Amino acid sequence: MGSMTADSPPGPGALDAHERRAAELIGAAEDLAALEGLLPELIGRRSPLTAWKRSLGTLVPDERRSLGLSLNQVVARLDALAEQRRSALGEAEHLARIQAERMDLTEVPSQSLSGHLHLVTQVREELEDVFVGMGYEIADGPEAETEWYNFTALNVPRDHPARSMQDSFYLAAGDLESFLLRTQTSPGQVRLLERGKLPIYAVVPGRVYRRDTADARHLPVFHQIEGIVVDHGVTFGDLAGTVDTFVRAIFGDEINSRLRPAYFPFTEPSAEFEITCTICRGSGCRTCSQTGWIELGGCGMIHPAVLEATGVDSEEWTGFAFGFGIDRLAMMRHEIEDIRSFIENDVRFLTQF
Ligand code: DAH
Repeated sequence: MGSMTADSPPGPGALDAHERRAAELIGAAEDLAALEGLLPELIGRRSPLTAWKRSLGTLVPDERRSLGLSLNQVVARLDALAEQRRSALGEAEHLARIQAERMDLTEVPSQSLSGHLHLVTQVREELEDVFVGMGYEIADGPEAETEWYNFTALNVPRDHPARSMQDSFYLAAGDLESFLLRTQTSPGQVRLLERGKLPIYAVVPGRVYRRDTADARHLPVFHQIEGIVVDHGVTFGDLAGTVDTFVRAIFGDEINSRLRPAYFPFTEPSAEFEITCTICRGSGCRTCSQTGWIELGGCGMIHPAVLEATGVDSEEWTGFAFGFGIDRLAMMRHEIEDIRSFIENDVRFLTQF
């Protein structure tokens, strides 16, 4: 029809011919994009149907009415066909996309690897269980501590040599106080004492930091567990019994514990506690320097200065504290020779535990 003037009415048979041709093309459109591309010429703005509608004004009323009706019917039928084709093509494209993106949920992976807790975490949880069984609470403290909690309140003033023995990573020298990565879990004692809820039966496990170079027995980041008991009439005998109880719970009955005099600024008297060497079972070997004993941690009766610094009346309350390395304990129990194995992430090591 393009050759005729745009606004003249259809010649005889032209309307039917257009409808047939349009229906064929719509039915043959291969996809949605092709279909939508055809419609303006077949039914829409650029179609002869639109031009014929514009020509209606040139006709006498009867002819206008009858052609108008026919045009509307043709447009309605073609619209319905286009809608049918659109939904058929849409459905087909949807199915094709589902097929393309389909995941095979029945596929069986050749090997399933499941991880587990790190040995140090396992031992920490075991220790927590033992102490919870003895009626202790598990407490927590920040890894970035102030000098007050890490040293001063623990009877380690600024000029005390124990500070340089536990050299730390200092975070900021504030005007009032500097922060450091805690060198021990002992600041947990101070926080519990300051809380002022007595008596106290608690352990504080956690990560600690020292400026040490890593070697077979040292890491700059390791783990400790602190114990603290404060009550009326607590004695050194209670401390010895407590140490013995958890050593047996962790290592079994063939392993004994003993206390030997030592010095810590925050306890008086102080002791180191040792356990039967787990390698030679007490007969003497290289690991225990032929003594049959291995040092596990420190302990003692809480120094009155620590109680007073935290507002606890040292005339009324007494207590003991202990602290030891969780990594060290795990090494002894599992005869691990190099503490660096814990952080090397070698699955051949990790999967053994
Ligand atoms: N905080 C000490 C250290 O890291 C260990 C320790 C010793 C903890 C004696 C205590 C204690 O609670 O009473 O070397």
